[in-house]
Amino acid sequence: MTSPESLPDATDCQRVGPLERGLAVLRVLCAPDADRLRHSDLVRATGLARSTVDRVVATLDRLALVRSDGREVSLAPRLMEVSGAYLRSCGIPAALGPLTQRLADEFDESVSVSVPDGDGVRFVTQARRRRAMSVSFRIGDLLPAARCAPGALFAAPWSKDQWAGDDQLIEPGLIAVAVPVRGPAGRTVCAVSVVSHTSRHTLQSLREAVLPRLRDVRTDLEAALAAPRTGEAPPATTDISLTLKRELGPEFLQSLARGLAVLVALGGDRGEGMTLSAVAEATGLARATVRRSLLTLVQLGQVSCEGSQFRLEPRVLELGCARLSELRLPEIAQPHLTELVERVHESASLVVLDGTDIRYVARVPTVRIMSISITVGTRLPAYATSMGRVLLAGLAPEERPELPTVLPALTQRTVTSARELGEIVERVAAEGFALVEEELEEGLRSLAVPVRDARGRVAAALNVAQHAGRGTAEEARVALLPALREAAEHIEADIRALRPF
Ligand code: PHB
Repeated sequence: MTSPESLPDATDCQRVGPLERGLAVLRVLCAPDADRLRHSDLVRATGLARSTVDRVVATLDRLALVRSDGREVSLAPRLMEVSGAYLRSCGIPAALGPLTQRLADEFDESVSVSVPDGDGVRFVTQARRRRAMSVSFRIGDLLPAARCAPGALFAAPWSKDQWAGDDQLIEPGLIAVAVPVRGPAGRTVCAVSVVSHTSRHTLQSLREAVLPRLRDVRTDLEAALAAPRTGEAPPATTDISLTLKRELGPEFLQSLARGLAVLVALGGDRGEGMTLSAVAEATGLARATVRRSLLTLVQLGQVSCEGSQFRLEPRVLELGCARLSELRLPEIAQPHLTELVERVHESASLVVLDGTDIRYVARVPTVRIMSISITVGTRLPAYATSMGRVLLAGLAPEERPELPTVLPALTQRTVTSARELGEIVERVAAEGFALVEEELEEGLRSLAVPVRDARGRVAAALNVAQHAGRGTAEEARVALLPALREAAEHIEADIRALRPF
């Protein structure tokens, strides 16, 4: 809903070229089948000059939105802040997420919420039932409106009895029943779909099983959407692009950085849109700069303008949402483990608790110092490892797995009393790290810290291992703990960026 009277048509000199080119590069990097792309692939796909692609990538890399080693480029978790801005602004995941989850539990089927986006339908919330037979679309994925159930609903005017079915239109075996949900202004703003498979239902039996309940719950969904937004408005940011420009010189495209800051700032609108002045205040940018960025973003379909209010459009989700929402802990952690190992020159690993064992989920070795070779999937007893103690310390005492009162001695130094181990675990919980010296294996020292998920729960443990002969344990703690904690903080920041809800 661009209203031409509020924003004059952008002439070439008003539009921000670097922002357009930056978004063109990002769109190629975010394509469903792109993974790591070389600079030359980006040149070919965008038609931009090599020097332009290099500068765009250098800028996005400095903003931590992509990772580049000079040859290959991949998406970085921080890019999710852009999609997160749209998801926050539209308010649907926060308002409908819990109800969507409840419906999925009740029906024991996947439930998704989607919004109209041009000729398509884009997913914004999901509660998935993973099943062998089913394909899974991701948040941010776009389906053609003509081939999915929600598409028909967005095309028709809203009516109380309306529903739409998808009988294997988009995918053999996949069936869906969808109902429209109105926003406070009375328009259909999204659709809730229940998705099943022909091995469990026909379209008719799915409709009979879920439609009455979907119709019942529609008033709750609409009330949740209409409820006033709670939570604090995001704080105003300062313009850091000047500092970065000084640091990187001509390689840094300041107007690309500023345009992206405008995009993210619009996520703070609480669904009401934002005026140009409000965006200027939120970003610390000059009005003229904001105006040119907004003009460019409107032209590119990322932002709409109604009167004096600017608002993010679902198309923003094409900037990495689907690909990034797939990232799991090992992939998130791997680059940070590599960086940690480069810094401390010792092997680093990430593990999770699996019963009374720890299980390796990511690892970057240097030299081999253990008698057994450790790979992803290796399990070790939690009680005798620094990482296990960190993970046990992250659980409430009643959640901790039961251990025998006498634990097997793996070396002469292994703590074998469950009572003594309990005291150690309490100390680890208070201090935020564990150091284990030759309890798992002679000659081996390991230092570990927790890695917390977006809700603050300990999700994994990160460690560095070294020869016990390398200085004292206290020297190792002083030398390694700050780098270990920093790496854990970087992983946690990525987890938070990827899970905005
Ligand atoms: C889905 O959520 O995966 C879905 C929803 C509606 C469709 C097809 C798939 O028509």
